[in-house]
Amino acid sequence: MGKLDGRVVIITGAARGQGEQEARLFVAEGARVLLGDVLDEQGEALAKELGEAARYVHLDVGREEDWAAAVSAAKDAFDGLDGLVNNAGILRFNELVSTPLEEYLAVVQVNQVGAFLGMRAVAPELEAAGGGTIVNTASYVALSGMAFLTSYAATKAAVVGMTRVAAMELAPKGIRVNAMCPGAVDTPMTNPAQLDPGADLAEASAAVDELYKKLVPLGRIGKPGEVARLALFLSSDDSSYITGQPFVVDGGWLAGVSVF
Ligand SMILES: NC(=O)c1ccc[n+]([C@@H]2O[C@H](COP(=O)([O-])OP(=O)(O)OC[C@H]3O[C@@H](n4cnc5c(N)ncnc54)[C@H](O)[C@@H]3O)[C@@H](O)[C@H]2O)c1
Repeated sequence: MGKLDGRVVIITGAARGQGEQEARLFVAEGARVLLGDVLDEQGEALAKELGEAARYVHLDVGREEDWAAAVSAAKDAFDGLDGLVNNAGILRFNELVSTPLEEYLAVVQVNQVGAFLGMRAVAPELEAAGGGTIVNTASYVALSGMAFLTSYAATKAAVVGMTRVAAMELAPKGIRVNAMCPGAVDTPMTNPAQLDPGADLAEASAAVDELYKKLVPLGRIGKPGEVARLALFLSSDDSSYITGQPFVVDGGWLAGVSVF
């Protein structure tokens, strides 16, 4: 028996990284999953690999019309909808004083507007299904500062804020809403060399390992599957009495100030 037997869940940004691992784990736990992303080729290939329990749709999370189409696609394919993992996100590094407004707003559009539109689009469906779960992906920089991340940190703090409000409004409808706050996780977002055929991946990965060995109490960068397991917990009945909370999954990075 899977922890998500009978459930139908939309996962955004599911073509790679944490979203991909969430899709794999959710299907393994019995869910049927609608994968959304803007990387159509990768998303289609993953859905094909996952088989009958998965479908892919082009879903740019910042576009209202894409959300309407994704909700319809989930209902058509799987005859229902009772979960959402808002995972899609982008990161731009820049000093506050050098950040162009256009860049700031582009990050807001995906990370913040995307999560808002997703919750707003699925909540009525979850209510009609008699309840459900929403898991939003924030970040440890929603809870702590980090230089060069003005736009990103702002949007992730907004995600935690919206999670609390949505949890309060949706609780009477049987919908639980929580947020994940990952630290550094080994995906193309933290290690872009993974996407660059010309890069020396071994060298880039060694530099990443060296960095996080020092910074993180558990001594390493996180794996996307470790975030997926938190998403599973927050989407399953194992978390039946939990709503409105941010959950840090960071190897202890935020636990305190390192002196070694
Ligand atoms: N990797 C980390 O260290 C880390 C830490 C904290 C939080 N996060 C968050 O975790 C989530 C997943 O990131 P990841 O590490 O897997 O990165 P990733 O870059 O590998 O994956 C992000 C996915 O989102 C998709 N995406 C981007 N813009 C989109 C849009 N407009 N509509 C739909 N999909 C879109 C991308 O195509 C990609 O598949 C993000 O919200 C990110 O901010 C990541």
